[in-house]
Amino acid sequence: MIREISGGKSLQLLKGDITKVPVDAIVNAANKELAGGGGVDGAIHAAGGPSLMQELDSIRASRGGCPVGSAVVTAAGTLPARFVFHAVGPIWQGGTHGEPELLASAYRACLKLADEKAVDYLSFPSISTGAFGYPVDQASSIAIHEVIQHLSRPDSRVRKVLFVLFDDRTMKAWSESLRILVPA
Ligand code: APR
Repeated sequence: MIREISGGKSLQLLKGDITKVPVDAIVNAANKELAGGGGVDGAIHAAGGPSLMQELDSIRASRGGCPVGSAVVTAAGTLPARFVFHAVGPIWQGGTHGEPELLASAYRACLKLADEKAVDYLSFPSISTGAFGYPVDQASSIAIHEVIQHLSRPDSRVRKVLFVLFDDRTMKAWSESLRILVPA
């Protein structure tokens, strides 16, 4: 499912494994300790090799980690990309602890990093909707909204944003949000 947003810039949903799709930068759904884990974080570290964690070790040593709602960048090791943006989404606590703004902020941080690093083609997983428990219908609306806002800006460098969704349930929820926000 693909939608043109403006001036040849587009947004696409794809079902699959984010570590297998060549792009300029891959977004990881990390934690604020930058400690690695399961889910997409585990898959990205497994496919990217130990250099990712070595870089994160030095970021942790200098900055202590990565606050919720922000992101840090490393090289991509053996992944088919130049960079990995390790973004930290919020843990769902019922929706009354600032989760929507923190999730939007995590997506915005990655889009800003993409512009800074001259990234044309960026892929995202469904941040926070696995171990962190964020309802996927709400999370997908927030993510799509933020990406549309960014791609609509004439000065945005990013040309294409790909959301790589791992299972049918997630793909279905994202497809529904995209249909609502950007009717064909
Ligand atoms: N490609 C794309 N998506 C994937 C992949 C993959 N290879 N593997 C898992 N996913 C999907 C999950 O199915 C889910 O839809 O990524 C989405 C996000 O789930 P999590 O990886 O659990 O991420 P999140 O909810 O943000 O939780 C982050 O989990 O293991 C940790 O270190 C990570 O502590 C952090 C927490």
